[in-house]
Amino acid sequence: MAADYRRGFEDLRQEIHRPTLPTTGDLPGWLTGTLIRNGPAQFEVGDQAYNHWFDGHAMLHAFRIGGGSVAYRNRFLESQSRTEALAQGEIVRSEFATDPCMSIFGRVMSLFRPNHPTPTDNASINVARLGDAHMALTATPLPIAFDPDTLETAGVVEYDDEVGADTSTAHPYVEPASGRTLTQMLSFGRQSQYIVGYIDPEGPAREPIARLDVDKPSYMHSFGMTERHVILSEWPLVVDPLSLLAQGKPFIRNFEWEPERGVRFHVLRKRDGSTVATCRAEAAFAFHHVNAFEQDGEILCDVVAHPDASVIEDYFLDRLRGPEPTSGTGHLRRYRLPLEGGPATPERLSEEPLELPRIHEAQARAQSYDYVYGIGERRPGRFSDQLVKIDVKAGTANTWREDGTCPGEPVFVPSPSATSEDEGVVLSVVLDPEAERSFLLVLDAESFAERARAEVPHAIPHGFHGQFFQ
Ligand code: CO
Repeated sequence: MAADYRRGFEDLRQEIHRPTLPTTGDLPGWLTGTLIRNGPAQFEVGDQAYNHWFDGHAMLHAFRIGGGSVAYRNRFLESQSRTEALAQGEIVRSEFATDPCMSIFGRVMSLFRPNHPTPTDNASINVARLGDAHMALTATPLPIAFDPDTLETAGVVEYDDEVGADTSTAHPYVEPASGRTLTQMLSFGRQSQYIVGYIDPEGPAREPIARLDVDKPSYMHSFGMTERHVILSEWPLVVDPLSLLAQGKPFIRNFEWEPERGVRFHVLRKRDGSTVATCRAEAAFAFHHVNAFEQDGEILCDVVAHPDASVIEDYFLDRLRGPEPTSGTGHLRRYRLPLEGGPATPERLSEEPLELPRIHEAQARAQSYDYVYGIGERRPGRFSDQLVKIDVKAGTANTWREDGTCPGEPVFVPSPSATSEDEGVVLSVVLDPEAERSFLLVLDAESFAERARAEVPHAIPHGFHGQFFQ
C-alpha cells in the first residue's frame, strides 16, 4: 500500500466503537461536544469500481470529546444507493462521475435527471443540523437523517414542498442573525433555474426566495452569502441540460469548460429575490466560497480559486492513486463585486495554497473577518501536507505540519470565553499513511501549536467536511 496521501483513497470497511482513544497532550476542559465528519470509505462494489473521490459510499466518523477524553465511532451511512449496491453486488445508482449505464446494458437510471425517481442518496459530502435533526448531505436534494450518538441511519429526509430541485448544495448556511438555514438549488428542465431558499425544519420544507432562469447551468458546489445578498458564482463549467437527457455519460461528464464565458457573479437580494447586479471576471473555478460581506458599496466575495476546472479531473480515483502527484489546493482569492454592477476585480489574498476552507462560523460569517483555516500544501503534488491559518487582512499565514502526514479539513471551535476571533481550537483528522492510522489533532487556534491528539486504530480515508455539534 502506498505510504503517502494515496493511502487515503483505499477502502475502510471496518466499523468500530472505542469509548476512549489513546490521547496525549492537554484537551481544553471547556471542549465538550462531537465532531462528526463525512467522506467516502468504499470505492468498489463486487468487481465494479466507482470512478471519483466524490462517488464512494459515505461513512460517518464521530469524535465525542468531553471530560478530557475522546470517544470514537464510525459507521457507513445506510443510503439506498449503498443498500441496493450491496444487495445486488453491483453499482446501481449513478453518482457524480460514475454511471451504471456505462457498465450495465439496458439499465435506465441516471443522476440528477429531471423528475427521475432514483437519484443517488449517497450523502458523503457534509453534515448539518436542521432543527433537532442531524443530516448527511450531498449535491442531490436527498439528505439522510442519522442519530448523532450511534450514527445509525434514520432515512432520507422527505421535503414537504414542491420546489422541484434536482441538485442542492452540500454547503447550506445558517444565517447568524436569524438562525435560519439558507440553501442553493438547481432545477434542470426546458427552462432550468437556480433557486435560493430557506429550509424550514418544520415540515421540513424549502421556501424559495429567488429563482433565476439559466440556459446552461454552471457546476456550483457552494454559493456566497452576505447579510442582505446571495451570490451565485457561475464558473464557466456549464451543461446543456439536453445532454443530461441523453444516456451514457456520468453527471459531471456532461459539463464543458467554456472559458470564453468568464465567471458571472449574480448578486441577488434576499428580501425580494431580485437580481441586483451581474459582475463578470476572467475564467476561473472554485468549489468553495470562504466568506462574503459588504463594504463601501461593494461585496467582497472570498473563494478558493483554481485556474480552471481540471481539479475535478484530478480527483478521479485512477489519477489520485496513480504515479503522477496530485495537488489538492487552490488559492484564497477575493472578488470585489460593485453593487451597481460592473467588472469583478480579483485579488489573491495569500500565496499559501489552500482548500477545504473554514472560518469562525458563528461570528465571522457574512462579516468582515480575519482568519481562514484550511488544508495546505508545502510541497505541491502532496495533495495535503499541512494545515494553514491565513490572516486575511495581513496576508500572512501560520502552518502546522508533521512529516509524512495528510491533514483533513480543520474545524474551528471557539472557546466559550473568547474575546478574539481565533480564541479556541482547530480540530483536524490527520492521516498517517506510514502508521496505517489516523488521529484527531487539536490545535490551539491562536498559536496554531498542538494541544492534544487522540489516536484512531485505523486509517480514515480522505473525507470532505465535518461539523462540531454541542
Ligand atoms: Co465542499
